[in-house]
Amino acid sequence: RAVHILNGPNLNLLGQREPEIYGADTLAQIEEQCQALAGELGVVLTFRQTNSEGGLVDFIHQARSEGAQIVINAAAYTHTSVAVLDALKTCDGLQVIELHLSNPHRREAFRHHSYVALAATGVIAGFGAGGYLMALRAAAG
Ligand code: DQA
Repeated sequence: RAVHILNGPNLNLLGQREPEIYGADTLAQIEEQCQALAGELGVVLTFRQTNSEGGLVDFIHQARSEGAQIVINAAAYTHTSVAVLDALKTCDGLQVIELHLSNPHRREAFRHHSYVALAATGVIAGFGAGGYLMALRAAAG
């Protein structure tokens, strides 16, 4: 079984970026925890990050062509990107799990709308880095 965990803009700065909101773990540390869990679950995990919208679309196309389940933290593109939504809509038959470290619903109003949610099987938000492990379990199940 294959799972792709896809990360959008500014998540390369986790650990330094607003740690009171996003926590102290770096993305590399989160990936390490996810790879360890993937090993236990017998999942082949691809873990990627990009700061560009087109890059995120390309990652989604690659997951689709491999038939991989998708966990996506689209970061700010969650709230803005019809292109990311359209790409996710091509992933019929695959799970799409929307993921956020923070809970966008208790933050600014512009974070309350999600394009990703329109194509998501389910959403995990507000559990910090631990949410990545929850999402991986959900995608593997
Ligand atoms: C985020 C929430 C988004 O609103 C924000 O733009 C991010 C990170 C999260 O993981 O909590 O960059 O997706």
